[in-house]
Amino acid sequence: MKFFVDTADIDAIRELNDLGMVDGVTTNPSLIHKSGRDFKEVTREIADMVDGPVSAEVVALDADTMLAEGRHLAEIAPNVCVKVPLTWAGLKTCKTLTDAGTQVNVTLCFSVNQALLAAKAGATYVSPFIGRLDDLNLDGMELIREIREVYDNFAFDTRILSASIRTVNHMKEAALAGSDVATAPPGVIRKMADHPLTDAGLQAFLKDWESTGQKIL
Ligand code: G3P
Repeated sequence: MKFFVDTADIDAIRELNDLGMVDGVTTNPSLIHKSGRDFKEVTREIADMVDGPVSAEVVALDADTMLAEGRHLAEIAPNVCVKVPLTWAGLKTCKTLTDAGTQVNVTLCFSVNQALLAAKAGATYVSPFIGRLDDLNLDGMELIREIREVYDNFAFDTRILSASIRTVNHMKEAALAGSDVATAPPGVIRKMADHPLTDAGLQAFLKDWESTGQKIL
């Protein structure tokens, strides 16, 4: 499973990218707002830093303006992936952009039928939002499993990009469900390294090592 980082925080992306943990980056208007940075400037900076796709989201609601925005965003860098909402206008924009060779991430997907439409429109990625379904007492991960099954049934090329990931368990479950990509906040990716038995084991090793009186350096 590929790891995308769901943030517009340059320092956090750099730290994970230096460790080889970043296969791509996703942003959205809320994350741009949180960063306090100029949208195009920060998108260019991220796209220069990482090799993989960098999702940048349109904000228009009608297809014509959305397409114009998408084309504009695609010019920022060759690895910009235009993010469009899963609306009829978004699907139209997706079809036109992907036909022209631009990568498109269709976001705000909450059902298998929506994911089917995204695939038919040629989306490079579809982004089902796990956490927001869980928020409603629905099973976000079940949606990932169902989309996986449907895409495999018909050999669709669209990649499943699990989004709205909030916990390390979401990462594990997304990988088990066969999600192609998971996009997670930097903190969730860092937390994947944590285990209380690792900490306890390390403490025990260090205590015994101290008793030997030896030094490595
Ligand atoms: O990838 C989409 C993500 O940014 C939304 O996450 O936690 O706001 O539902 P969240």
